[in-house]
Amino acid sequence: MNILMIGSGGREHALIKKILESPRVDKLYCAPGNGGISRDAVTVDIPVMDKEKMVNFAKENAIDLAFVAPDDPLADGMVDAFEEAGIRAFGPKANAAIIEASKVFSKNLMKKYGIPTAQYEVFDDSEKAINWLKENDAAPCVVKADGLALGKGVLICNTVDDAVNAVKTIMEDKKFGASGNNIVIEEFLTGPEVSVLSFTDGKTVKPMVSSKDHKRAYDNDEGLNTGGMGTISPNPYYTDEIAKQCMDEIFVPTVNAMAKEGRPFKGCLYFGLMITPKGPKVIEYNARFGDPEAQVVLPRLQTDILDICDAVIDGKLAELEIEWSSEPTACVVMASGGYPESYKKGIEMFGMDENGQVDGATVYHAGTKYADGKFYTNGGRVLGVTAKGATLDDALAKAYEAVGKISFEGAHYRTDIGRTK
Ligand code: AMP
Ligand code: GLY
Repeated sequence: MNILMIGSGGREHALIKKILESPRVDKLYCAPGNGGISRDAVTVDIPVMDKEKMVNFAKENAIDLAFVAPDDPLADGMVDAFEEAGIRAFGPKANAAIIEASKVFSKNLMKKYGIPTAQYEVFDDSEKAINWLKENDAAPCVVKADGLALGKGVLICNTVDDAVNAVKTIMEDKKFGASGNNIVIEEFLTGPEVSVLSFTDGKTVKPMVSSKDHKRAYDNDEGLNTGGMGTISPNPYYTDEIAKQCMDEIFVPTVNAMAKEGRPFKGCLYFGLMITPKGPKVIEYNARFGDPEAQVVLPRLQTDILDICDAVIDGKLAELEIEWSSEPTACVVMASGGYPESYKKGIEMFGMDENGQVDGATVYHAGTKYADGKFYTNGGRVLGVTAKGATLDDALAKAYEAVGKISFEGAHYRTDIGRTK
């Protein structure tokens, strides 16, 4: 098979390394890719949102499977564009990717189908939202921009004043652009968070092994929210009992709800869950693999990922047995100093072996560039240093050992991945 991966982060590098394990691969391309990806696949300089160029490239290069990994091109209909051109593509169509692209859509879906989630109100007008907050003394609460905002459009507010300011920031100052035309104000929930990615063909849903993301920039969950500073798999809070409850009350009902709405979801559906004192509830859906969840989940996948892609696209997932390694994994993200706010790019990196010079570790590249035999930083999250181990402690020790052998000026990483709630 000739394959085109679309995206440029650590998630895409993890997908590429997994695809390379398949005996079915002939040529593997990635657009636009990154420095590390360029060592494993042929990188193609096409911007991630350029549907026309992607489709033309796929036609010219006899692509058998296009894999659309990031949220923006999915929401913009890149899978639809490939299908219209007769090219098989992995990922939801735009009418299903909306489950991530609009929080108003996803909250209303959950309400309509009785899927457990935080109580909420929707507003399209800041004055009404502010009046509602004051009348209901609605704190603590969470104010969310409706649309895609790079994971940043969610503001946790301890007081009504904070919430009023959050509404103004999103709806009046338009800090997150048009994604803040509508907002959701939610009840504040507590409990450990769990990420469960799943494969679904629109009818059958097969959850992958669970994971836990560490979203805050600094140790002890301090600092700003980021795209994710590290992950472990499995998630210790995701017991068999909770997994069963999630399957019955959340995963199957969501996939059935999307089908009923005429928006069958095919691809990877990501359930962001909180295990509250009243049971598991959905915090968010994503229409794609998580980043850096993919970096810990995919190394545990033992079934050929291309067979899974075929089963998802052909609606035959029920017939496929998907196997997972029982070995835990851990991923530590090395970021540029200053991330998630401003940071420098183009800094030379050292110690860049493929396995971080540690047996059982893999260095997934997120924001890197490769030139003249050297790697340079090229983004906020730079690397996802991942390891497998007989135990979680073992995996963490190996990941941190590899992190210790890599250096670049300003490098920042959390030292407590796998250790906090
Ligand atoms: P989201 O982008 O919706 O996943 O939100 C980002 C993060 O904000 C989540 O991972 C949670 O840590 C937090 N969060 C979102 N919604 C809530 C909520 N209703 N209650 C408590 N925390 C939340
Ligand atoms: N790590 C969270 C996400 O991919 O949305």
